Amino acid sequence: MAQLSDRLQRLAPSATLAMSQKSSEMKAQGIDVINMSVGEPDFNTPDHIKEAAKKAIDENYSRYSPVPGYPDLRKAIVAKLKNENNLDYSVNEVLVSNGAKQSVCNTIMALVNPGDEVIIPAPYWVSYPQMAKLAGGTPVIVEAGFDQNFKMTPEQLEAAITPKTRLIILCSPSNPTGSVYSKEELKGLADVIKRHDDLFVLADEIYEHINYIGKHESIAQFEGMKERSIIVNGVSKAYAMTGWRIGYIAAPEWIVKGCNKLQGQYTSGPCSVSQKAAEFAYTQSQECVEQMRQAFERRRNLIVQLAKDIPGLEVNVPEGAFYLFPKCSSFYGKSNGDTVINNSSDLALYLLEKGHVATVGGDAFGDPECFRMSYATSDENIREAIRRIKDALAELK
Ligand SMILES: Cc1ncc(COP(=O)(O)O)c(C=O)c1O
Repeated sequence: MAQLSDRLQRLAPSATLAMSQKSSEMKAQGIDVINMSVGEPDFNTPDHIKEAAKKAIDENYSRYSPVPGYPDLRKAIVAKLKNENNLDYSVNEVLVSNGAKQSVCNTIMALVNPGDEVIIPAPYWVSYPQMAKLAGGTPVIVEAGFDQNFKMTPEQLEAAITPKTRLIILCSPSNPTGSVYSKEELKGLADVIKRHDDLFVLADEIYEHINYIGKHESIAQFEGMKERSIIVNGVSKAYAMTGWRIGYIAAPEWIVKGCNKLQGQYTSGPCSVSQKAAEFAYTQSQECVEQMRQAFERRRNLIVQLAKDIPGLEVNVPEGAFYLFPKCSSFYGKSNGDTVINNSSDLALYLLEKGHVATVGGDAFGDPECFRMSYATSDENIREAIRRIKDALAELK
């Protein structure tokens, strides 16, 4: 019988990629769609990084790299962790992969047995629960909604832990909400984690540099936490290098070795030229990172100010990343002609079809009350998109 494996049948497709595709299809038909569904910087990769990649090609970085990545790149990451985060890692505690996405998936595959529970605060990045399921694990969703600024409390974490809990996934700054855990908040969670044996935390820090409240804090910094933390990070968001596919984990050596074994059978080391470009990104001036961060902050201020003006939307002020995640549940039950809005996916579809703005319904992120807009786009697009959204929502009665 022509049928995919049970494993794949259980896997949901990525809702964010699906929305992006729908918006591209409409664009191909000549419709002027503003795409706010994508999760990537709109900037080009800085020139000096591109030059490093061209040089790497000329210098014949064209063969298989070591499975965990070139030692020079891993050294550069070790130096970054020391200089920016004051964390001490050795080269053997770092493994480079094809984007942070593979780093997350490697970690889950390396640690989670069938039947193990993986605690994931909602709203969450769409891939976490799917990856946990792929490993045979059970995602345990902890609801951390709009009213608590989308952050899980230590009490909620404690209540969700069972003897089967193996891994907790934290994302700060967060996709899809932009929330950032403070040092005190992370310490509260770390204290809970340390009370339980055999419990690990995957700290997805891919948005580390897109932070509007100051210094990034890592949960690995607290006494006794380095042994239990798997930091995931990479160059995709900070250096506008999403297509280069370079991410990494910094973790205890036994976990790195496990991921290395997996990666050795699955993908081998990541793209040689991209690794040289990433090494350059980490070791040269960080001015480009700050310039992009400032642009995102200006856009954050703009979109918050404009969205707050839309009747019926509740808007919080995101502290990092490049997403706004407003509460839109006051529109549920309303309609425009034959179109009835029953949930956030209906709303996102309505905004696409009526307002020609692509967003993503919060259902995909485990929060049915909100929807996500990416403001990694021009000021002009932000203004126009919010105008269209406001008009479309005003027509819902
Ligand atoms: C929270 C989060 N983690 C990981 C990733 C994956 O990053 P990469 O493009 O490096 O695979 C993304 C990308 O959207 C993300 O939003």
